[in-house]
Amino acid sequence: MNDEIKKGLLGIVVDETTVSQVMPDINSLTYRGYAVQDLCEKCIFEEVAYLVLNGELPNKSQLNKFKKELDKNRNITINLREIIKHMPKKSHPMDVARTAVSVMGLEDKETNNNSSEANMRKAIRIFAKTPTAIAAFFRARKGKNVIPPKKNLSFSENFFHMCFGKVPKKEIVKAFDVSLILYAEHSFNVSTFTARTITSSLSDIHGAITGAIASLKGPLHGGANEEVMRMMNKIKKPENANKWINNSLDKKEVVMGFGHRVYKSGDSRVPTMKKYFKKVAEITKDKKFHKIYDIVEKVMIERKNIHPNVDYPTGPTYHLMGFDTDFFTPIFVISRITGWSAHIMEQHKANKLIRPLSKYSGEKYRKVLLLNQR
Ligand code: CMC
Repeated sequence: MNDEIKKGLLGIVVDETTVSQVMPDINSLTYRGYAVQDLCEKCIFEEVAYLVLNGELPNKSQLNKFKKELDKNRNITINLREIIKHMPKKSHPMDVARTAVSVMGLEDKETNNNSSEANMRKAIRIFAKTPTAIAAFFRARKGKNVIPPKKNLSFSENFFHMCFGKVPKKEIVKAFDVSLILYAEHSFNVSTFTARTITSSLSDIHGAITGAIASLKGPLHGGANEEVMRMMNKIKKPENANKWINNSLDKKEVVMGFGHRVYKSGDSRVPTMKKYFKKVAEITKDKKFHKIYDIVEKVMIERKNIHPNVDYPTGPTYHLMGFDTDFFTPIFVISRITGWSAHIMEQHKANKLIRPLSKYSGEKYRKVLLLNQR
């Protein structure tokens, strides 16, 4: 037995996938063979969600059918809405999202049916309902009325509508859509691997997505977009940025929104998201965070040669759109449900129980002493 330890599974290839390809050498990320940058410029989020789930881009009639399916499934039950309304107001919205998907599993009539057809139907239901659940908590914790989804609004428009009661300018909606496209899928990251691990025991999709949400919450993964905003708020103004980031590096602190396990010379999603962050900053006439962004990025590259990851531009973008900081990672969830679902279905199709080995480093073999002898 080879007992060499690869902590964090660093560099280990554990399976194959057809969902996406990360190519750090040429700074590229493709979903089902299409470059994300291209998808961002030519598609709306629903087209990309369809692609990730089904393997092909939809034609007009397939897209319309998919949109109708989402419209039909957007409402959450009164039961779930009441549970969300009664959750402690201080709950982290990621914990609310995790609980909401778990409750959806209790309510879904096909929970224990793991056939491909049932899994696709369940994936669409989870994808359609989770934004409604998250938006319900966005408002309920502020003592505001919960706004139900509206038919014939796009996925992104509906989320704004359910959170704020209105839909912003189309440029803002486009920037949000782009962020969702960029967040949809990223091969064997920790939350996706969690989802596949749960699936590998032949467990159900609601359970796998619940576990994936818990995994995404951590600041080394999706939680980084919130931490970026907290950092920018601490920096307060561009004049402080240079000193703040240099101090932070002197103290050997980890700077959130920078670095990546796979991309070592830049995250392929960043240039696109940065472009849309700039647009949002122009529209909202708020240049402060944009200036802080540039200064911190410059110092990180000059001093450490560590580049930003996608959470760096999304954090301040969501802030300028009006979302509370602790809702940034739940926004990541509503998009990544597509990638997780595609991987869960892929895992089911060619399943092998995921069960690695460990090297024991505990006590040597010993005899149990009876209670009165210890
Ligand atoms: N700030 C300061 N130093 C860093 C950073 C950072 N953000 N990232 C890496 N380093 C240093 C690290 O200290 C280490 O230095 P040394 O070799 O001197 O000990 C070296 O770079 C290698 O880093 P590592 O942590 O061993 O690399 P990893 O591949 O295990 O970690 C990472 C990748 C994402 C966990 C890490 O870069 C990190 O903690 N970044 C901040 C959190 C973050 O932004 N996460 C989002 C990840 S991408 C999108 C997503 O999943 O949501």
